[in-house]
Order: sequence, then C-alpha cells, then structure tokens
Amino acid sequence: MSETLSQYIRRRLTEARESGLQRTLRVVEDFNNAEVSIAGRRYTSFASNDYLGLARHPSVAAAARDALEKYGAGAGSSRLVIGDLSVHHELEARMAHFKGREAARVFATGYLANIGAICALVGPGDAVISDEKNHSSIVDACRLSRAEILVYRHLDMDSLREKLEQAKGCANMLVITESVFSVDGDIAPVDQVAELAREHGAWSMIDEAHATGIIGENGRGAEELFNCTGALDVVMGTLSKAVASQGGFIAGSRQLAELLINTSRAFIYSTGLAPAATAAALAALDVMEREPERRRRLFENVARVNEMAVNLGLRKKPSQTPIVPLTIGPEEEALRAFEAILDKGVIVPVMRYPTVAKGRACLRISVSCEHSASQLNRLAEALKEALS
Ligand SMILES: Cc1ncc(COP(=O)(O)O)c(C=O)c1O
Repeated sequence: MSETLSQYIRRRLTEARESGLQRTLRVVEDFNNAEVSIAGRRYTSFASNDYLGLARHPSVAAAARDALEKYGAGAGSSRLVIGDLSVHHELEARMAHFKGREAARVFATGYLANIGAICALVGPGDAVISDEKNHSSIVDACRLSRAEILVYRHLDMDSLREKLEQAKGCANMLVITESVFSVDGDIAPVDQVAELAREHGAWSMIDEAHATGIIGENGRGAEELFNCTGALDVVMGTLSKAVASQGGFIAGSRQLAELLINTSRAFIYSTGLAPAATAAALAALDVMEREPERRRRLFENVARVNEMAVNLGLRKKPSQTPIVPLTIGPEEEALRAFEAILDKGVIVPVMRYPTVAKGRACLRISVSCEHSASQLNRLAEALKEALS
C-alpha cells in the first residue's frame, strides 16, 4: 500500500535526521556581513558570499533606493511582455564589457541563468560534458536539457579528453565547468578547457559565480587570470556573490543573447530582474572598479586564513580563492565541529551531501575584505579549540 503524504514526509525527515543530513533554518535578526545576530547572540560570520563587502556600500544602497523610486519594487512582468527596463539593458551592456563580450542577458537568479542557458544550448541527441564537482544548478540544468550527460574527473584534463572522445557521435557537445569551485575553492584551467573543447568541435561554458569580481588582475574572472579573454563560448555568473545583489547573467556573442530571448524558457517565463537589484549590481561593478583595494584587502585576509588553517594542520595547501574549505569527512563529525565552533561565537557553515559527496562533509570558510584582524583572530581561536 502506498504511504499517505504525512507518512512520506515523516519518513524522509527521519532519514535525513538519522544520517546527519537534516537541514534547519537559523533566523538572522541583525546582519552586517561579518557580524550577525541569531537568537539574541552575536556571532562573527565566515558564511557570506559578499566577498568585497559591497551589499551595504553607500553607493550600492543609494542606487537600489533610486531604482526603487523610479521603477517601483518589481519589473511587473517577463522582459518579453512589459518588464524590459532600461536599467536591465544598462547592466547587460556593463556586464558584457566587464567580461569582454559582445552582449549579456540577466536572469532572475544565477540558478536560473544556468538552467536557461544550458537548456537553450543542448537537448536530446546532444552531449553535455561536466566536471564531477559542478554546482547543483549545472547538474539540474544538464538533467533538464535531456542531453546525454558525461561527467569527467574534477579538474582532470585527460578525463575531459576521454569524455570528449566518447561523445563524438552526438550532434552538438557542450563542455561546462565552474571556474572557481563553490565548495573546494579551487580554480579550473579554463584555457585548457577551452582548447580541448575547440579541438573536439565542442562548445565551452564556464560558471563564474565565485570568480566574478574576485580573480584576475581586475576581478574580471578566470579568463583574465589565464590571459585568455574570449576563449570560452559562454560565460555565466551571478550577481549574488561579490556583486552583492541578486540575479544571474550569461555573457557571450550578440547572437547568443538573441537566442536566449527566443528559446530560453527560464528567461521567457520568469519576471524580469527587480529594478533595485539590477541597479545595485550596476553600482557594485562601479565600486569594484573604483576601489580595487577591496580585492587587495580580501586576499590579505585569505592569506591570513590560509596561514592559520595550515598551521593548525587543517589544510595541507593554501587556497587560491576566498573559499577555504576544511575537510572533515563523516557528516555527524562535521556537524559536531560546526556546533563547537558556533559555541565559540563563530559561524563556519557545514557542507554536506548532496552539496558534496557522502562522507566528504566539510566546513567552508568564506573570507571577506571586511573581516577585521580581531575577527580573524576569533576564527583562529575557535578553530584551535574546536578542531585541533
Ligand atoms: C557555482 C554556482 N553557480 C550558480 C549558483 C547559483 O547562483 P544564485 O545564488 O545567484 O542563484 C551558485 C550559488 O550558490 C554557485 O555557487
């Protein structure tokens, strides 16, 4: 006999609890990137993706307020109906320029940008070749596209070549990788990915959610870092991390931007990005350019966190990005470590299955340029007492 809905829900929640995979929400009452207040207690947080501390920057907040006054709270409809605002076009032109591309399209979230682009590019009969550690939004997009999915070993170019050979019989092939990996914080060799794809007649796409504003001399991302701007066919990113707002984007050729308007269901059937979020992202890009010292301070803090993690024996090698994961392993153990650090007044979020593989849970430190020396010392103390 089948279960009732409430039996089903109870069973799934019990399974999650018993395997250390239960998720809970923590209501943040007061929030200032590096300092948060939860249930009346203050914590130092290493959990936000606001790496450059722009969410509360006066110019970003003012731009959001002005757009709210000018356009109202929402875009009112899909871009293709009547929600296509001049501020969307301003941001798209700005983002295209930032990424060295002809054009860009903004989506309501980064998750939707991946869904929207991948499903517009490949379908049944095609192949998508994806790094094994790619973000769930890429995994979901690949599944939704109904293309054949071939997964290559993380950052392994020999494995990518093998999969490209295997996919030879498919109509079109798309290679996709994150440039900065959202949990491991490592960087894909995007120049080699682009070249391998081209050699095999495949298209290439990178997800720059955690690279935009962060890596490369001017924060333009992995192509700038590897000195290969324009090498990849499609560049995806979010406005929700270093850009400190909300939304996602796809940058590429003018024709690609035109195709997305015509065939990307996530673009067509979703309300245009909120005007305040759009204007905030535009202002954040301006601040990034005007205040490069934010990136310099960020990497000084990353160096300090790397030093403490290596000295405490929690990492073998320093991370090259503001994402510094500490691998724990079993889910229950990682949860206990998270709670112990929390008890010291510090938040370092725990990443568990399905975000990472089963039994490979970790604590992920996200560093911001806004972390002060005393906040970094607090992290060092908490890690030392809880983990070493
Ligand atoms: C690599 C990667 N891609 C896509 C996304 C989705 O972005 P958004 O939060 O804007 O939906 C995220 C965010 O978690 C991410 O880390």
